[in-house]
Amino acid sequence: MNHLTIKALASYVPEKRVSNDDLAEFIDTSDEWISQRTGIKFRHISLLENTSDLCVKAAQNLLQKATWQAEDLDLIIVATMTPDSTTPSTAAIVQGKIGASNAFAFDISVACSGFEYALVTASRLLDGRHVKKAMVLGGENISKTLDWHDRTTCVLFGDGAAGALIEQDETMSSELLGYSLKTFGEDFDKISNQKTKPLTTFPPTSFEQVVTPFYMEGRAVYNFTTRIVPEVMRAAVQDSNLTLDQIDLFVLHQANARIIKTMAKKMHQPLEKFPMNISEYGNTSGASVPLLLCDLEKIGRLQRGQNIMLCGFGGGLSAGACVIRY
Ligand code: ACO
Repeated sequence: MNHLTIKALASYVPEKRVSNDDLAEFIDTSDEWISQRTGIKFRHISLLENTSDLCVKAAQNLLQKATWQAEDLDLIIVATMTPDSTTPSTAAIVQGKIGASNAFAFDISVACSGFEYALVTASRLLDGRHVKKAMVLGGENISKTLDWHDRTTCVLFGDGAAGALIEQDETMSSELLGYSLKTFGEDFDKISNQKTKPLTTFPPTSFEQVVTPFYMEGRAVYNFTTRIVPEVMRAAVQDSNLTLDQIDLFVLHQANARIIKTMAKKMHQPLEKFPMNISEYGNTSGASVPLLLCDLEKIGRLQRGQNIMLCGFGGGLSAGACVIRY
């Protein structure tokens, strides 16, 4: 499809590590319920650092790893559903803070499918002319949007940022082999973040800023995910002219260990091909897939030449699957 070489992977998670037992001290939950239903043991929670701060740290780690200068970058995309603000974009803040003066930058808002949508977008813009080197980040500070008294949602999420530096390197066999991106907007209300209201009068008598906490209809999303996501992954594999057996690793959004086990069964693939790090980070939405890629690289499970499925799913509702030759 097109050359897309991942030059470096890097991440940053906030220092504060919160266990299930820590949560059970102030809400009616238990380590047993959270572990058994989700596979989550810990999550990292950001104190004082906003989404852009997490992304800047991940960006600096990326540049250091690849020995690229910030000025080398032509494009920065941040996938986030928890931007610092609606404008400026988090990507613009990152661009300014790291000094990537030659890059244009924008956010992509597709919740937990954001990294896959961003990677496909970046690959289309990577033309060797306007864009030679790009940075794609997934970054979230979900803790600032949660209702910390809603046990059905707050136990699931964590903060972090991770991403990749990409370029077209024809000396490498790396490639984006195929993809499938899907949106199911009729279910827009199943997962929602902060809502704001339009004016009721003009000229306005007061300025009403309505902020509602993050909300997810867990069971409905679970059913959507286990029904739709296998279809989207199959479509991406077909688009790649590969078979499922030729996929070496399925790097799936870490929303729930039970979902991932169900996916492995539905795809008739061994669970060993579906690595997980959900126990350490919980659901980090747009950061989840690149965070897992980083961890796999660290332990030597990610190897050049492998066929890797990257798959995210969530708010929108949405799903995105990309097959890359790493
Ligand atoms: N601790 C203890 N009990 C709890 C908790 C908790 N933290 N949360 C819910 N419960 C209780 C409920 O009140 C309910 O009790 P009841 O039977 O007395 O009414 C019981 O546990 C079962 O609740 P369910 O919601 O049916 O639990 P379920 O097995 O569905 O698990 C979960 C919930 C983990 C949220 C699951 O539905 C899930 O993983 N959903 C999908 C999440 C997903 O895919 N997210 C991806 C997208 S996220 C994004 O885009 C940002």
